[in-house]
Amino acid sequence: MLLFREKIPGDWLPKVLGNLPAVLVDHAHLERKAATTALNLEKYRDLYGRVGELNAIAIEELQHFQLVLALLKQRGIPFGQPYPSPWITGLMRSVRNGQRHQAIDHLLCCALIEGRSCEKFQVLARALAGIDPELAGFYASLVESEGNHYAAYILMARTVDTAETERRLDFYLDLDATLMRQGSPLPILH
Ligand SMILES: [Fe+2]
Ligand SMILES: [Fe+2]
Repeated sequence: MLLFREKIPGDWLPKVLGNLPAVLVDHAHLERKAATTALNLEKYRDLYGRVGELNAIAIEELQHFQLVLALLKQRGIPFGQPYPSPWITGLMRSVRNGQRHQAIDHLLCCALIEGRSCEKFQVLARALAGIDPELAGFYASLVESEGNHYAAYILMARTVDTAETERRLDFYLDLDATLMRQGSPLPILH
């Protein structure tokens, strides 16, 4: 189902496993941003009819945010500042202006973020199984939900304009691959 053209860089998993407290703080912000982004998508005229679905996604993301906050509390990790993600910034920088184009591009960026989260949570769940079974179970429990968000955003974009969505998806998959190869030394999920 996931269409990515570049593998997760080999140094990503060791970097994340070696910085789990910082990664959990980053993850909390990621869920917070996912909730606010779902609400922000409601500003587009083409998505007025999807407000209920977007609210449902925002509620799920807020629940994920609460779950990560509970994990932080339980592990004595203070909630702190977010790191900027070069990958997310790189994707969002290419969102075009103009109601319909902007809506499609924004939806596709969200879809790729959800899709990469889904993929990375699966990798983390497997890698953590022998090290930190509780955290492994937590990541495994989020995989389906993030995968559903990925699919929901792609379908929403196709409903706005199928041909334009396919063209832009091709562009964004190439951009994702380019940005993925650049990597990042920061202890962040994306
Ligand atoms: Fe989430
Ligand atoms: Fe999500």
